[in-house]
Amino acid sequence: MTTDVHYVDNARPRPADTDSAPDDAATLQALAQQHLIMHFTPAAAYDETPPTVMVSGEGCWLTDASGKRYLDALAGLFCVNVGYSHGAEIGAAVQEQLARLPYYTNWGYAHPPAVKLAAKVASLAPGNLRRVFLTSGGSESNEAAVKLIRQYHQARGDHARTKFIARRVSYHGTSYAALSLNGMTSFRKTFEPLMHGVRHVSNTKRYKRPAEETEEQFTALLLQELETLIIQEGPDTMAGVFVEPLQNAGGSLTPPNGYAAGVRKLCDKYGLLLVADEVICGFGRLGEWFGSTRYGLEPDIITFAKGVSSAHAPIGGMITTDAVIDTVLAGSQGMYLHGLTFGGHPAACAAALANIEVMEREDIIGHVRRTEDYFRQKLSTLLPHPLVGDLRGDGFHYSLELVTDKVGREWAAQPASTDFVAQHLGPALVAEGILCRAAVDHEGTPLIQFSPPLVFDRHHIDWLTDKVRLVLDRCATAAGLTR
Ligand SMILES: Cc1ncc(COP(=O)(O)O)c(C=O)c1O
Repeated sequence: MTTDVHYVDNARPRPADTDSAPDDAATLQALAQQHLIMHFTPAAAYDETPPTVMVSGEGCWLTDASGKRYLDALAGLFCVNVGYSHGAEIGAAVQEQLARLPYYTNWGYAHPPAVKLAAKVASLAPGNLRRVFLTSGGSESNEAAVKLIRQYHQARGDHARTKFIARRVSYHGTSYAALSLNGMTSFRKTFEPLMHGVRHVSNTKRYKRPAEETEEQFTALLLQELETLIIQEGPDTMAGVFVEPLQNAGGSLTPPNGYAAGVRKLCDKYGLLLVADEVICGFGRLGEWFGSTRYGLEPDIITFAKGVSSAHAPIGGMITTDAVIDTVLAGSQGMYLHGLTFGGHPAACAAALANIEVMEREDIIGHVRRTEDYFRQKLSTLLPHPLVGDLRGDGFHYSLELVTDKVGREWAAQPASTDFVAQHLGPALVAEGILCRAAVDHEGTPLIQFSPPLVFDRHHIDWLTDKVRLVLDRCATAAGLTR
């Protein structure tokens, strides 16, 4: 006798059902809850609050599966630099490339889109950065930079130079080396022990520094801390320093005067390589192709991703100098010991080339330069609000820091800042159709971050500012903070 056993789980749609599943919001949300593991998403999203499912975009606006519209003031994840209306054009370039050559590798071979993209990125990069390694994203790019630097020092006989310095609260990605560089304790600690020898120094946040401290004094303090750390660790053990031109995490932290030049000087003095992580700052966010240019930062390596294709395809990379890569190539290994199947994928390179063409044709970087003062000035009208303590940023990257005590510059009331953000601010922003980042920073104060598509215009800025003011008023009342 044979027994056929059919396992039927009525609670879950069978995978085959998904082909004919309707695209209605409820069905998509249910399928997402059952099958899609979401990135950095609280457990409640899997059973209590169904996830929002975005289905289309136009300009700076997104529409979800229920038809609700949102103004995207975060460019997806700081990446849809040309906005949502160039998909057909960039897609056509991708389609043409796929029809011609869907894939070939950069391991020992080249193909036209990778060659052209490397040359194009080199032509846009500052200084003598002109050799390009292609990856599939930001973490991979920082991973690539760590390995390049390790090999660089080995090729020079500096075998003990294995340690890296990054800044507190910085975010450099989620893969092993990139995660190790992160200055965000909450992201790191679950996975420790991480890569050996990463140290962190203060970032450039000035808001809570003593009021009487000058910018020059602040710069001197930061540089002194960096130098002391290098000396304490032993300069001959130090490999490199990672900084973002403007640090995203912690809230649009710009470098004080003299900082960029000072970090370069210390790297030269003690033989460290300097990496500018431009995964967010690159490709127009700060009104330049690379944020390093804006602040006079002169790195040995730039890492990039996100905006290079305006997120129309997963691609990133690393740009370095002849001096660095040629030293590695002349080393005992005779090669840069790193490679990725999808690094420099032809379709992704075609998307990046088409994106850069759009950015040039539409003078998108010029638009950022022409509009950034208006953006800052408009957001500064929120400063008198009882909950707004600070506004900082440059280009198209701004943050508001919220406090209940403007003199003490802190959140010193109930509800606690985490509850305020989770129960009031975050939901209210989304309810009003605003996509931005609302989070509590490492010092316990809420931040609202804006990093919109670079085609954000004055009317978007006006709309955003008015809505944020409304949300702050409503949240202050709802949370009992107006008394
Ligand atoms: C500054 C910075 N570096 C690296 C990364 C990691 O990039 P990815 O998520 O593409 O791996 C990010 C992502 O947000 C970032 O902001």
